[in-house]
Amino acid sequence: SREYNIVVLGAGGVGKSAVTVQFVQGIFLNSYDPTIEDSYRRQMDVDGRSCTLEILDTAGVEQFTAMRELYIKNGQGFLLVYSVTDRSSLQELIKLREQVCRIKDNQHVPIVLVGNKADLGHARTVSFQEAKNLAHNWGTSSFYETSARTAAHIDDVFADIVRQIQKR
Ligand code: GTP
Ligand code: MG
Repeated sequence: SREYNIVVLGAGGVGKSAVTVQFVQGIFLNSYDPTIEDSYRRQMDVDGRSCTLEILDTAGVEQFTAMRELYIKNGQGFLLVYSVTDRSSLQELIKLREQVCRIKDNQHVPIVLVGNKADLGHARTVSFQEAKNLAHNWGTSSFYETSARTAAHIDDVFADIVRQIQKR
């Protein structure tokens, strides 16, 4: 089946690894182990077509970001992840998206905006509407609030990025 290279980007601790591992292995990573770089594969049917997703789970913390330019070059689609409990993690995505578009030399790179930790309603500091508006400003409706804990909307995120790559 066709392969899709997907890169997961965002600030440290927002749940990039937990989202990826929930998608690939169906389990919730409860402990926090900062990532250097990990890659995963999963087959998924999207609109009746078998797809192989190659997923690069990247480092959020600054000292590991030197590799970013290279894996952005190799990526076809990007999950930009923030936490609904962390305003600064959403702000960070504005710079990250600019970096992706500059490196790909394209303003219409396949991107999904992902607001993770949606199960932590009591600790929410970013509203659904606010993030939806940001996605709209980017010219996309590809925005989901997810929970790696409950698995809510995790598959939707990956199906969406595959469909965007297929349309290119
Ligand atoms: P770096 O690798 O350092 O960039 O962090 P990361 O973005 O990969 O975060 P990670 O997936 O390691 O998650 C950080 C912490 O948040 C862990 O303790 C996770 O269990 C927790 N976490 C991740 N996603 C969720 C979620 O959807 N809900 C809740 N309640 N906790 C989450
Ligand atoms: Mg990680």
